[in-house]
Amino acid sequence: MHQITLPRPDDWHLHLRDGAMLQAVLPETARHFARAIVMPNLVPPVVTLADAQAYHSRIMAALPRDMAFEPLMTLYLTEGTDPADVAAAHASGLVKAVKLYPAGATTNSHSGVRDLTKVMPVLEKMAEIGLPLCTHGEVTDPSVDIFDREAVFIDTVLDPLRRRLPGLRLVMEHITTEEGVAYAAEGGENLAATITTHHLIINRNHILAGGIKPHYYCLPVAKREKHRLALRKAATSGSPRYFLGTDSAPHVDALKEHACGCAGCFTATNTLSLLAHVFEEEGALDKLAGFTSLNGPAFYRLPVNTATIRLEKRAEPCIWPEKIVADAGPVTVFNPGFPVHWHVLP
Ligand code: NCD
Ligand code: ZN
Repeated sequence: MHQITLPRPDDWHLHLRDGAMLQAVLPETARHFARAIVMPNLVPPVVTLADAQAYHSRIMAALPRDMAFEPLMTLYLTEGTDPADVAAAHASGLVKAVKLYPAGATTNSHSGVRDLTKVMPVLEKMAEIGLPLCTHGEVTDPSVDIFDREAVFIDTVLDPLRRRLPGLRLVMEHITTEEGVAYAAEGGENLAATITTHHLIINRNHILAGGIKPHYYCLPVAKREKHRLALRKAATSGSPRYFLGTDSAPHVDALKEHACGCAGCFTATNTLSLLAHVFEEEGALDKLAGFTSLNGPAFYRLPVNTATIRLEKRAEPCIWPEKIVADAGPVTVFNPGFPVHWHVLP
């Protein structure tokens, strides 16, 4: 099979940032994707419907005229979030999810949630109206090993929450472990999980063996090889519980290549080619459309895109820019470390 046609894909977890960075990275996504769930972890975060409306306008203003793209907005859950504002955000049609960051878990998460009991009225309202909660599923307890933080979150936070509020529709964002894969598999129709492109490609050796590679560092951090293999199996299984959320998260090189480097891999530019490569390796090219274009809309109760996109396998490898040039500085594009031959056709 040398050509594949997919319904135009969507990215169910994306960081677009703001200002000059937004301007630089938005075309990288809009070139291939019709829609994206846009993460709200700006400084200050996107907390209210009014914040989301303003951010939506800035994204649309940054979109090149010849590109079509629909940002699906999210609200950043804080302990001060008003359930009525969340209900109004849902009713507006602009906001498609609320994001839970445990305070301190990742980039710009200090306004996140310390005590889940404080946000129960919001979560109860969301369960009532069917608005999904997207979770950054890592505990922040410094005594828990960073490689165990996802599994511990599932046991100590996620499972108790789902038992308390079984009607809450929930997406486990960017799962990185076999425990995450297994939990999502058993959750029923109110539960789904996104998987990033890079977690299908790298394990923790890529970050740490033979010298530290800051451009492979992201959160949740890549785990052991057995976990990468579990993620590959899940993504290529055809199960509707798993779909693509790239978590493409640009940071300028100066902040990645730093004594305290920022977390995030920037994969918007080459994600589709990389996924075709991975799915072909797994003998599952027929499952690619489910992962990139069908399962996400089904969970979010949105139509599948009618436009299509084609990829073609060629003898010559894809050539991507090594860096995207943003006004704030260069942003390194994720380098898989092997040649990729699936070209996205214009
Ligand atoms: C994200 C970012 O930079 O905003 N970083 C990352 O490593 N994924 C935050 C996040 O999604 O955790
Ligand atoms: Zn993210």
